[in-house]
Amino acid sequence: MSVPWMCDAVVIAQDGDNYRLMVGLTGGLGFQVPAISVAVATHGPRDGVRGDFPPLPAVGTHGRVSFSRGDIRNGRWEGSHEPSLIDAFPHSAGNPNVRYTADFSGHWAWHGADGTTAQSWPDGTSLLLGLAMPSPTRHTLGPNQVRTATVFTAAQRNPNPPGAFPFLFAHGSGARIAVSASGAVAVSGVAGQPITLVDADGGSITQLAGTTTVSGALHVTGPVIGGYGTGDQVGLLSHGHPQGSDSHGDSEQNTGPPIPGT
Ligand SMILES: [Fe+2]
Repeated sequence: MSVPWMCDAVVIAQDGDNYRLMVGLTGGLGFQVPAISVAVATHGPRDGVRGDFPPLPAVGTHGRVSFSRGDIRNGRWEGSHEPSLIDAFPHSAGNPNVRYTADFSGHWAWHGADGTTAQSWPDGTSLLLGLAMPSPTRHTLGPNQVRTATVFTAAQRNPNPPGAFPFLFAHGSGARIAVSASGAVAVSGVAGQPITLVDADGGSITQLAGTTTVSGALHVTGPVIGGYGTGDQVGLLSHGHPQGSDSHGDSEQNTGPPIPGT
């Protein structure tokens, strides 16, 4: 069937298994042909190993399709365009150099012209490299169809946000940094490898093989207890020392605990 080489179209259904769309042609042909299956073009590599696949355009999205050599079997979705004055474009005054993606979940990612890099997830988790989280806007319509840029808030992006996600960075060695859904933070090492904090003056705290080693001064405001929980525990600030016999034949009291300020 012969069709124009380029047509405007609207998405009727998604074919996620094949990264294709069912579209209806708009404009001159105006839905006078059945829904047509079109492949979706992407930028960058597209082979058996490499690819970059954004979410398929949603039903109702307008865009442009091409038909190579005018053959309806060669349909390809070349790109989407907004169907109305409302869009999710992240207006950034005087700054055309923001790379921005927003998805269905409420997650968004921002890479600004100054290098600010931010991501925000629907559970309230965020990641920021930069001075402040951006506040992406979108175009909405006010009274009298006046188009304005308004802040696209987290509540608008996802009115029913999930609870806090657990976080996990798992290294190939087995080392892990984790934050549980309730907020427990755990840094886990692997056998034979230390977990170390080092300052620029040569001080360090090293956790290795069940032993904590502090290089440098150790200042503690709370109790310091040796043998904790073993039944032979000794508190640094609370222990006494037995006294030798004074030859009176009686038993001697232990000495008192250390004297504060000494
Ligand atoms: Fe002592």
